[in-house]
Amino acid sequence: MSFERFHQYRTTPEIREKYAEVKLSADQFIIPLFVVEGQNVKQEIPGLQHVFHLSPDCLLNEIDRLKYRGINKVMLFGVLENSQKDEEASAAYQKGSLIAGVVEKIKQVHPDVLVYTDVCLCGYASHGHCGVFTDVNLDNEKTIQLLAKMAFVHAAAGADFVCPSAMMDGQVYAIRQLLSQNGLAKTKILGYSAKFQSSFYDPFRGAANSAPRSGDRKTYQIDYRTTRQALDEVGADINEGADWVMVKPAHAYLDVIGKVKERYPDVPLAAYHVSGEYMIIKAAAAAGLVDESLAALEVNTAIKRAGADFIISYMTDVLYKFFK
Ligand code: PBG
Repeated sequence: MSFERFHQYRTTPEIREKYAEVKLSADQFIIPLFVVEGQNVKQEIPGLQHVFHLSPDCLLNEIDRLKYRGINKVMLFGVLENSQKDEEASAAYQKGSLIAGVVEKIKQVHPDVLVYTDVCLCGYASHGHCGVFTDVNLDNEKTIQLLAKMAFVHAAAGADFVCPSAMMDGQVYAIRQLLSQNGLAKTKILGYSAKFQSSFYDPFRGAANSAPRSGDRKTYQIDYRTTRQALDEVGADINEGADWVMVKPAHAYLDVIGKVKERYPDVPLAAYHVSGEYMIIKAAAAAGLVDESLAALEVNTAIKRAGADFIISYMTDVLYKFFK
């Protein structure tokens, strides 16, 4: 009997390295950061271990530290007190908003850092939904105009990428139009194109104080039993003018990542390893069940191997020692 021999590819670290098809590097990672008002605030977020609420001054220090490790892409989320919210989410798109102020500061001190901003109303609306309502109905057309205003405020402050995550129809179109009309055509759009309705966002909603006060997001986020809609949503975002697209969550959606990359090979694809997926690894490591950094390395490598070009990951900082 004859058989093929595979052990020869695995005998030493050097040989395994030679045959590795996927490598992680700092330039593939985007780290999410949560901004709060105030000064000298660096507070670990309950339920999202080792992730912090940062006031603008502390956020700048954090970026300093990350840059030292070669990490130069950040995704910003604004976190408000309930008293600052209203039904129309006005704090999201007013001039001089929390995020606009932070973006300006980052760009002054660290012009070489790429700034991505989340564009969604859920953290700013008193009802906690991603859009606004007319009577009892979510008003898609009104919402996309507000999302466009929010994106405009971020872009005018110097954001490199605005990233609509509200899953409203036409949100990329509305943003692209308003930016072009106002001389900001160079600002890029990263669409959260294939964003599924998921349990794995729960720790984030605690962190961003953005959980819906009633109901859920099933009427606008994708039902995870369909792949077809995810592929179509990605195609629609590309047609509307998205520069990059995203699949979210990532770990439980590797098949979708693979199919999106196959269907749209030329469009940069990001995948978001979300808060609940992150906490699964943290909790297993805390229970002594897995080695945290090796588990993180394996999962993030799998996301890359599936077809993601970029990964938005709370583990960026854990992974940096493996970067090539
Ligand atoms: C805003 C938004 C969410 C996440 C990113 N942007 C939450 C949601 O849709 O409920 C989730 C990120 C994470 O879980 O890490 N809409």
